[in-house]
Amino acid sequence: MASALRNISWSRRFATHSSVQGFNGAVGNTPLIYLKGLSKKTGSHIYGKAEFQNPGGSVKDRAALGLVRDAEERGLIKPGGTVVEGTAGNTGIGLAHVCRAKGYKCVIYMPNTQSQEKIDLLRMLGADVRPVPAVAFENPQNYNHQAREYAISIENAIWTNQFDNIANAKAHYETTGPEIWEQTKGQVDAFICATGTGGTLAGVGKYLKEMSNGKTQIWLADPPGSVLTSYITSGGRLIERSGSSITEGIGQGRITDNLGTFISELSGAFTVPDSKSIEMVYDLLDSEGLYVGASSALNVVAAVELAQRLPKGSNIVTIICDGAYRYQTRLFSKAWLRSKDLEDAIPPHLKKYAVLN
Ligand SMILES: Cc1ncc(COP(=O)(O)O)c(C=O)c1O
Repeated sequence: MASALRNISWSRRFATHSSVQGFNGAVGNTPLIYLKGLSKKTGSHIYGKAEFQNPGGSVKDRAALGLVRDAEERGLIKPGGTVVEGTAGNTGIGLAHVCRAKGYKCVIYMPNTQSQEKIDLLRMLGADVRPVPAVAFENPQNYNHQAREYAISIENAIWTNQFDNIANAKAHYETTGPEIWEQTKGQVDAFICATGTGGTLAGVGKYLKEMSNGKTQIWLADPPGSVLTSYITSGGRLIERSGSSITEGIGQGRITDNLGTFISELSGAFTVPDSKSIEMVYDLLDSEGLYVGASSALNVVAAVELAQRLPKGSNIVTIICDGAYRYQTRLFSKAWLRSKDLEDAIPPHLKKYAVLN
């Protein structure tokens, strides 16, 4: 553990001056981008942590590496072993890369409703992809349960369990949080992001709270269809779900163990409608040259909204989770926007970016 941590901080400190060890050494040390247009507009300072610059393309590379390292340190997996996870998204991609880099087999269970593109990508990265029927969590055939059962049934295998294994939040506590603290020189008034597993929010939040002696406010941003805003704003009384969202990788129907480690310390939560998130996808492209996915855009909308609630001049940090590359056939398609009733959410001067039919 200690030596793994030393390696992480070493690579962080000297990122621009020295080489790093393979894929795993290249995870983290992402730039903190000052969003000048939005900062000017709000009178505060809005920053996005450029997690799309991780070598597997998303914030989930950190969780994937953290989950595997933790299992190694606890002696749960030995050379040649198998990493199993139930995931339809970025965590699977991160794990597939980490497994190749470390010589493990990677088995991914996912609902059979996922796009062929995702399945192909994971297979190209060497993963054994097992599409299974898309059934509710309560059903034993759910992809998460199948992943767990398979890992139990074979020798030298782990189920990484990204939602409830707090090694996920720990990875952010040990890397993303310290990087943000260093990059802002400890001047961070608020941090806000949406959650899937809750690993990013809980890990970064815990670190920033500790370092600032409780001064940094930590907020949760939610897509429609998630229960978290109702739970947090009602002090844990309500679990209300309404609507659905075009965003991927975020929104939750329960309090995961990762989020549970930190939820009581949140300053607040609010929901961001898809119309604002999609507009921000286009706006960030037009005004900042950033090509980001919808969860990242939601985070930036939330940071702007938080700027309106906090004193002018506040330093507000959020996460740019991944690029738009994995979603471009939808986000930039006129037909898809129309099918989601989002065509009118794009202002006329930004419609030129919807180049796909
Ligand atoms: C695109 C994207 N954004 C945000 C998140 C949320 O991150 P976390 O699981 O740390 O809450 C995920 C998680 O899979 C994701 O894939």
